[in-house]
Amino acid sequence: MKLELTDEQQMIQAMAREFAESEIAPIADEIDRDERFPHETVKRMGELGLMGIAVPEAWGGAGSDMVSYVLALEEIAKQCASHAVVMSVNNSLYGWPILTYGTDAQRERFLKPVAGGHALGCFALTEPQAGSDARNQATTAVRDGDHYAVNGRKLFITNGRESSFALLFCQTDKDKAHRGITAMVVEKGTPGFSVGKTEDKLGIRASDTAELIFEDCRVPVAHRIGDEGQGFRIALAALDGGRIGIGAQAVGIAAGALARAIAYARERKTFGVPIGEHQMIGWKLADMATAVDAARLLVWRAAWLKAKGRRCTLEASMAKLFASRTAVQVTNDAIQVHGGYGYIREYQVERYYRDAKITELYEGTTEIQRLVVAREVLGGAE
Ligand code: CAA
Repeated sequence: MKLELTDEQQMIQAMAREFAESEIAPIADEIDRDERFPHETVKRMGELGLMGIAVPEAWGGAGSDMVSYVLALEEIAKQCASHAVVMSVNNSLYGWPILTYGTDAQRERFLKPVAGGHALGCFALTEPQAGSDARNQATTAVRDGDHYAVNGRKLFITNGRESSFALLFCQTDKDKAHRGITAMVVEKGTPGFSVGKTEDKLGIRASDTAELIFEDCRVPVAHRIGDEGQGFRIALAALDGGRIGIGAQAVGIAAGALARAIAYARERKTFGVPIGEHQMIGWKLADMATAVDAARLLVWRAAWLKAKGRRCTLEASMAKLFASRTAVQVTNDAIQVHGGYGYIREYQVERYYRDAKITELYEGTTEIQRLVVAREVLGGAE
């Protein structure tokens, strides 16, 4: 076994850390408070190659690998979970399926600008009645010559308002149930495609979560990704990678909160000594640090498998399950270490606490990750 990062991976990690500390950290509190999408720093992430890390250079990406991706994502999330989710969706949920299932012409048109950071992409799967039960798609696409006429609504779409491209999943043959679901790219500006309401959220407030509306929207058949009926499998395969990304985001949130708790425990004194010297706080910090490392190792393992092109459904769900629980627990503990100060904005850990919760919900709830893990260990799933 070799648990060492390559020179390139270390370089990308250091670059992401430096960028996040110098350019994201100074604005993180303000964009959270104002619910402001950070266009400038998202653009910078593109310039640094962070929006298509594992996409080959020929298709606009950085040509690196999935391990570099999770290392960079953790560094971004340590400072701001909103930036991290924008990056995660762009890389895993939008970029990866186009790279994997798209034709060269589709990669040129739909992937290159997004992987190069010149445009954003989103993943339009969720609907009001199709969250955990993702196969229950009501959005329809009816073939009409060389176009599909799309009708329906998508909900809770990360990057929904800001994206130039949506990877849309819809039903092309209801009789075939999930085998009648098809994926296609819809470009912003296509008549009949509009953005509905933007959600007002507990956390990741600087990211964009929107409703997408399709009303007799004509999408060229040439925009279909993969075959008719292959869409659900494409979505679930993309979510394997997406869950690794959210695992990395959760590790970053937890690690950011832990770092602040450690700093506070060194500086704050009670009963004449720094609080870290009280066994109660020392033990808490020890448990927090151990959980963060365990989560990180699960994320790294899943990313390593994915980088090797190996199946990682089980490992991705385990990583997301454990890392998201860790993020919620560790950010809660970080507030506890801070006492009353943890509850006020100035000390920042309350932002981490609010941001952590979403990692237990999106890209498959904790319950869905348990379902996937249970099916895998019982040998029932393919
Ligand atoms: N990769 C590829 N194919 C897969 C797969 C995987 N990981 N898992 C299953 N499949 C295939 C199966 O082999 C099966 O194929 P066949 O039709 O050829 O037999 C097909 O997909 C259906 O599989 P299941 O019968 O297992 O499907 P299911 O209906 O029981 O659903 C589920 C399984 C795990 C519950 C799934 O619905 C699921 O993951 N739900 C959660 C959805 C989710 O995570 N949504 C998040 C959306 S994105 C988001 O959060 C917002 C954002 O923008 C960040």
